[in-house]
Amino acid sequence: MAESDFDTLMMARALRLAAKGLGVVSPNPMVGAVVVKAGRIIGEGYHRRYGDPHAEAEALAAANAAFPEFVAGATLYCNLEPCCYRSPEKHQPPCVELIIRNKLARVVVANRDPNPRVNGDGFRMLADAGIRVEEGLLAERGETLNEVFFHCQRAKSPFVHLKVAQSLDGRVATSTGDSKWISDERARREVHRLRACYDAVLVGSSTVRADDPELSVRLCRGRDPVRVVLSSRLDIDLASKLLRGENAGKLIAFRADDGDEKILSRERALVALGTRVFAIPRSTDGGLDLSAALDWLYALSLRSVLVEGGPRVFTSFVKAGLFQKVSIFTAPLLIGEGKSSLGDLGLRVLSSACRLRRVRYTRIGDQMLMSGYKEESHVYGSR
Ligand SMILES: NC(=O)c1ccc[n+]([C@@H]2O[C@H](COP(=O)([O-])OP(=O)(O)OC[C@H]3O[C@@H](n4cnc5c(N)ncnc54)[C@H](OP(=O)(O)O)[C@@H]3O)[C@@H](O)[C@H]2O)c1
Repeated sequence: MAESDFDTLMMARALRLAAKGLGVVSPNPMVGAVVVKAGRIIGEGYHRRYGDPHAEAEALAAANAAFPEFVAGATLYCNLEPCCYRSPEKHQPPCVELIIRNKLARVVVANRDPNPRVNGDGFRMLADAGIRVEEGLLAERGETLNEVFFHCQRAKSPFVHLKVAQSLDGRVATSTGDSKWISDERARREVHRLRACYDAVLVGSSTVRADDPELSVRLCRGRDPVRVVLSSRLDIDLASKLLRGENAGKLIAFRADDGDEKILSRERALVALGTRVFAIPRSTDGGLDLSAALDWLYALSLRSVLVEGGPRVFTSFVKAGLFQKVSIFTAPLLIGEGKSSLGDLGLRVLSSACRLRRVRYTRIGDQMLMSGYKEESHVYGSR
């Protein structure tokens, strides 16, 4: 096998290992590492959980335990540039020092770490120690795997993913508000898988009132995300499933900062149950200011948000341009008059519409799942 084919295979393996950290390493990136000597894997590892050893350290520990005499002169494949700094809030020592101490000959990396405290310095330190460094192998796959991490490093705001379940004619509920269930169990299991990968799931107050959702992970394995509700007046029924038992402690509610005594008393009742409540300004259209909500979520170390509706909330996020990805589950169902998945975006000409890029189509049972990304610069009303 040509060296470049072998390199690609090893990097693909590092990426697969990295993906095992999905949903459990945030706010850290997912990283996998493979140590190879003379065409054979002598150690591998991945970042298993936030605060745990980094992938490079795991892989080198495995190699040193199994084949200590082969580690010097080996090649390390790793999807992210090794870290090179110490800081009080960082749990692990710099991987670059470990690589140099282990006398590796070559380091192959998919993506540069955009963190300003790394951003090429890891490569420079390795090269200064005489280690051959190669960057960019399977970079696009690496960028997609860690899309949340890369977005957060650039934007300092959570990665926002809008998830819609709609009928063939673009409805999310009948005119009476009935929406259970538009998609079948297979699609719902896929949604639960998505939830398990996200730090937070967000809905509007009307969805809580209409559907009384749990927004938890039940149809697959995985940890429950933090639930977030936008409710200017905090009119959330205290018997809602989102407030049952331990759920209340996993709920964040945003209210308007112009609250009266009635709202303050609702806040006290929610806080007594363990819910965190934040007062934020309203935007010019009267809804809560989504940028302010996202700033709070970012400050709380919540790096990714799955927005699950309803239509008014979807519309606000789209109109404000505050989303990165959209996933639409379309079921073979005709509803006719009913609630559209999106409201008025103020669009005049088609050329100003947001056209998704890097679109993927997946069939899930009877449903078609279409996912794509927003053009970063696109904002409704700007053209
Ligand atoms: N099929 C699906 O994918 C899906 C998903 C979810 C819901 N649904 C259905 O959708 C319906 C509810 O949707 P909906 O559009 O009526 O309401 P919604 O989007 O769930 O909630 C809208 C409410 O959220 C609050 N809010 C605060 N800030 C906001 C902002 N910036 N933008 C938008 N809303 C903000 C407002 O209430 P306050 O005045 O209380 O702040 C607003 O009235 C239900 O029938 C539900 O079954 C379908």
